[in-house]
Amino acid sequence: MCGIVATIGFREAAPLLLQGLQHLEYRGYDSSGLATLTSNQLHCCKAEGKLAHLWEKLEKTPVAGCCGIGHTRWATHGKPDARNAHPQLDEANQVAVVQNGIIENHRLLRQRLEQQGVHFRSDTDTEVIPHLVAQALKDLGGTVPPTSLLRLAVAQAVQQLQGAYALAVIWLGQPKELVVVRYRAPLVVGLGEGQFFCASDTPPLAGVASSIVSLEDGEMARLTPLGVELFDESGQRTQRTPQPLRGGDYTADKRQFRHFMLKEIHEQADVAAAWVERCLETTAEESLTTVLRNVERVQILACGTSRHAALVGAHLLEQLAGIPSSVHYASEFRYAPPPLLPHTLTIGVTQSGETADTMAALTIEMERHRALEPGTPPRLLGITNRIDSSLGRQAPHILDLKAGVETGVAATKTFLGQMLAFYAIALHLASQRHEASAQVRACREALAQLPEQLSQVLRTMDQCCADLAHRFAETRSMIYLGRGINYPIALEGALKLKEISYIHAEGYPAGEMKHGPIALLDQHVPVVSIAMPGPVFEKVLSNAQEAKARDARLIGIGPVCGDTEIFDVLLPIPPVHELVSPLLTTVPMQLLAYHVAAHRGLDVDQPRNLAKSVTVE
Ligand code: F6R
Repeated sequence: MCGIVATIGFREAAPLLLQGLQHLEYRGYDSSGLATLTSNQLHCCKAEGKLAHLWEKLEKTPVAGCCGIGHTRWATHGKPDARNAHPQLDEANQVAVVQNGIIENHRLLRQRLEQQGVHFRSDTDTEVIPHLVAQALKDLGGTVPPTSLLRLAVAQAVQQLQGAYALAVIWLGQPKELVVVRYRAPLVVGLGEGQFFCASDTPPLAGVASSIVSLEDGEMARLTPLGVELFDESGQRTQRTPQPLRGGDYTADKRQFRHFMLKEIHEQADVAAAWVERCLETTAEESLTTVLRNVERVQILACGTSRHAALVGAHLLEQLAGIPSSVHYASEFRYAPPPLLPHTLTIGVTQSGETADTMAALTIEMERHRALEPGTPPRLLGITNRIDSSLGRQAPHILDLKAGVETGVAATKTFLGQMLAFYAIALHLASQRHEASAQVRACREALAQLPEQLSQVLRTMDQCCADLAHRFAETRSMIYLGRGINYPIALEGALKLKEISYIHAEGYPAGEMKHGPIALLDQHVPVVSIAMPGPVFEKVLSNAQEAKARDARLIGIGPVCGDTEIFDVLLPIPPVHELVSPLLTTVPMQLLAYHVAAHRGLDVDQPRNLAKSVTVE
């Protein structure tokens, strides 16, 4: 989703801004722009499409100045063209603003400004902001010290905004300062040597800032070449100790791989090894032990891939720990939460820790938990790969996936990490509840074998899927089938294919096929069927037979054995306990989607219309 970078100091801003924006590319965007200030001019340059277009424009018309703001935009209001790209300017071209988020009352504000004679030049919700700041500058001019003028004007403007936003503002009247403010959208200030930064995410700060301060909601910062001043919501100066930033944590490198996504799929062997240790530890992490105490039911809130991991999690919680569990789309939950019963644990799952719907649903739950069980910290656990995110800061208990930076927009290794986090939770809950069933023992034993098996699957599956991919060059639609704990993996397989190859795909519980979707099948619609030995193995195979009888090409994901000979192609998985099988069956799903997309020559790491961090509703 949109990205912000801003800088001020003794170095030319434009190269630093471009470098920062490059680090935000992975989040997804469709236009970009930047503005810089010299003592007598505000320079602005914007371009549609990839950052390379902005570079080209800047090569022809360079911009100067040591203070500047930059942006990658993911279109919400208005087409993704240069006119709607940020920065947005006021009428006099003196105030420039970049914004992440949504200004919900922008129509009303625009109407009012237009009635006052303001002429708008874009279709964005953001454009109201430079106009409001310009008006406030005029109102306040001469009544406050010049060094406070921009900050107070921005404060006056944001008082009129409703929604969620992070913004950075510069003004020709004070070319040696920039003002940033955050409200329900992430913003981090970075401190370097004689150079100060602000960004919507940490990667642009790696290598240029040695320490960071994450802004809280309502906080504002004034950056000058001399340093950074923080102000709380009421405008009072506030202090915070900056946290050291370790560059290595955020630098992304493709190594020998063609795409980040492929590299990240292969990194799953390391993620699994680390998590299996955490799962098998006899004493849980302290935060986990505390939050799991006396839990009688679990509700899980998530979106997209994270929701699929949650579905695997709910299955484990019920089958291993005997805890009734429900999974909700965060976007639906936030407007119709079911009644909250005592001793319910709420788990929020989000790799980015910023997803607007998930964060909003969790905020509601935080309040409801407080009201239901006053005096105790809300029974709320966050699972994220970004401990420095909004979720990381707000959730009372956190499980850090520690999967390392994930640059590909399509979630892969974080999905595996999320599933493994649920194995850890389910096993610890089972042991707290003294559930020492054969299932629990078998699951532990199978997990111990997982890292080796996963490495083996990764080694062999890559080529199998690459070979298979060319057969799908003309495919328009695919069906993914799974049952039980592998049903969410069918959903995930279909989602991955849609996301990066733009082929229509649907995941179904295999037994549901005959209740409608079977009408879609013919020789042009391949069916991918996950068939792992377990209580539903035979059923899955007969569901696959039903598809084969309709001439569908059958791709099986399962062990090599007589039963799986019905498949036209088999993507082989070692015979593992069904309860841990999603950790392996997910690999061919990811690799198949990857190779189909790569074969079609698509932008695998930055698929169209998608964003790594979905910070708008
Ligand atoms: C899948 C994907 C999306 C995200 C969803 C939630 O590859 O990238 O479906 O899973 O937007 O994102 P997080 O996990 O950051 O909340």
